[in-house]
Amino acid sequence: MYVCVCKAVTDTQIREAAQDGARTLKDLRRDLGVTRDCGRCASCAHECLREAHGEQPKPGKVMRKAA
Ligand code: FES
Repeated sequence: MYVCVCKAVTDTQIREAAQDGARTLKDLRRDLGVTRDCGRCASCAHECLREAHGEQPKPGKVMRKAA
């Protein structure tokens, strides 16, 4: 699924970036370009990164597709 529509970044790419060492949203921004345009993907990208590292989603956070 697309997480960042502006840069056409998928959850698979975020998981791959996490495996390659991305630890923070800033890392994803540098490596994949997420949040560089409208920024609406920030929350979803961060949750996807957390899941890729085996962390539980924060309470109340639900993965949603970017509009
Ligand atoms: S959806 Fe990611 S910058 Fe717009």
